[in-house]
Amino acid sequence: MEYKKINIDDLAVLKEIVGTDFVFSDEDKLLEYSSDETEDLSYPPEVVLKPKTTEEISKIITYCNDKLISITPCGARTGLSGGSLPIKGGIALSTERLNSIIEIDERNLQAKVEPGVINQVFRDAVEEKGLFYPPDPASKGSCFLGGNLAENSGGPKALKYGVTKDYVLNLEVVLPTGEIIWTGANVLKNSTGYNLTQLMIGSEGTLGIITKIVFKLIPLPTKDISMLAPFSSAEKACEAVSAVFRAGITPSALEFIERDAIDWTIKYTDVEIQILEDVQAHLLVEVDGNDIDLLYKDCEKIAEVMGQFDCGEILLADSESQKEQLWKLRRAVGEAVKANSVYKEEDTVVPRAELAKLLIGVKKIGAKYGFKSVCYGHAGDGNLHVNIIKGEMSDSDWNNKLTFGIREIFELTKNLGGTISGEHGIGLVQKEYLGIVLSDKNIELQKGIKKLFDPNQILNPGKIF
Ligand code: LAC
Ligand code: ZN
Repeated sequence: MEYKKINIDDLAVLKEIVGTDFVFSDEDKLLEYSSDETEDLSYPPEVVLKPKTTEEISKIITYCNDKLISITPCGARTGLSGGSLPIKGGIALSTERLNSIIEIDERNLQAKVEPGVINQVFRDAVEEKGLFYPPDPASKGSCFLGGNLAENSGGPKALKYGVTKDYVLNLEVVLPTGEIIWTGANVLKNSTGYNLTQLMIGSEGTLGIITKIVFKLIPLPTKDISMLAPFSSAEKACEAVSAVFRAGITPSALEFIERDAIDWTIKYTDVEIQILEDVQAHLLVEVDGNDIDLLYKDCEKIAEVMGQFDCGEILLADSESQKEQLWKLRRAVGEAVKANSVYKEEDTVVPRAELAKLLIGVKKIGAKYGFKSVCYGHAGDGNLHVNIIKGEMSDSDWNNKLTFGIREIFELTKNLGGTISGEHGIGLVQKEYLGIVLSDKNIELQKGIKKLFDPNQILNPGKIF
């Protein structure tokens, strides 16, 4: 599909809509908006727009739909599947000025926000009122809520509390044709027609631009304890994961970190922690609630379970600073891996009891294709981030042969009952693999939905399919 290049007349119209100060076409800005956190990919847009209101966005889209100019919505550009890369040039439409928390409704435990609010800013604001917004991607200090919806982000606490989709009640959306709709109602139950709210979530900015979000909140748990359990066998660590649940405990987080990942992250951060020579992996576990004695009992039980899988001495973190250090370490793993080497990140997810098989399989496939991988992730959810490290691999192997290796990893994931993305999305970099897990008919239906919403294919072109 050919899109119209943006010319001086288009620029004049766009400036009229959003104001001259919020239309950018200088090289530095275009370069800045050419990338997100996905590998080292870069696709500069022709212009960057920073609208302030739903109405401005509606006017921009109406104009672009008429002229066939492509629009790629973007938030904080922390994504890991290339969902906000303007691969066809056109407009990069940033939501950063739609950044207000419109209302925190304490009576109904709800909040209405704009998409450019940073996840952590929002969680702090509701926490001040004793409320809790659980989804906590590793990038929570910088990622936008709009982007979290676009990718249906998770994070460690998804294990006990669910992912982004579980907290969204209603959305204001500007459609690719320029119309503005609300998708649902501000209620906890809703059986009124197709669920367009949930359809928007995880649609990666391809069906509309979300301009307002109504979230459900829950009461804030007041106590938590974290534990770091070392294992001399990564496989055993994976096996311990489902055993914790079978013992009757649902931790608020249960993360897996392989040895290299933790070593690289210690070097990358200022977190001080001693790791014994023979340790191959860690499980980082958190329990939360309101009764500290019960939480200590849960910890004892978890330690007992882990003991059955040959875990070493567990570090129990119950002071704020200790906990902070451990979670800082965990959240920095992704960045540390990125800083260490050129890499590709696969966001595999399997039923949690199959995690050990997935890990063993990934290593076998790596040996066959000659790549090293470093794995970490949300083990309690069966969600393993497989980071394939370029290391000594030749450029040609990296760009060609590796595709077959990735394909094998995804086929294995599927055979174990899983899928190819748990929380990062398909975006640009996983789309060639979508057919491994979805049937032709399924993809045809999804493409039909895209066409219905966006007949001229102007919104976030080239993503998912
Ligand atoms: C994490 C991101 C990469 O879990 O999803 O750190
Ligand atoms: Zn993750």
